[in-house]
Amino acid sequence: MTEKELCRTAIDMMDRAYIPYSHFAVGAALECSDGTVFTGCNIENASYSPTICAERVAIFKAISEGRRDFRRLVIAGRGKDYCVPCGVCRQVIREFVADDFEIICLNGAGEAKHFTLHDLLPYSFDSSML
Ligand code: THU
Repeated sequence: MTEKELCRTAIDMMDRAYIPYSHFAVGAALECSDGTVFTGCNIENASYSPTICAERVAIFKAISEGRRDFRRLVIAGRGKDYCVPCGVCRQVIREFVADDFEIICLNGAGEAKHFTLHDLLPYSFDSSML
């Protein structure tokens, strides 16, 4: 998939978001090294804390299907700001990828800002510290 197609996939996933509380849709598209793409959307809950972010849905779908070889991740929102991953998601991403992993964040205009995981989570905690 081209970057444009991967972004379109994340944008389309916003339509599947279950967001009766925040009304803030997020879509995600996670690309593996062989080009396989796992998608996600945010899924909220009346009890609030069980809510899961779009990018974690995509990552957990991939992990549960036996995949850990991630190449890049697109996160799409409809706001004016680029939809960057929350702190919890940054730590979950950290578990499976290196510092140079590419994270592409989209705003509601479909504009993209490129980050590495290191940009978003420097001095991160990982298994080497245990
Ligand atoms: N959300 C995501 O899906 N990804 C993020 O990284 C930011 C937050 C969702 C969670 C919740 O359903 C809504 O956006 C508002 O916080």
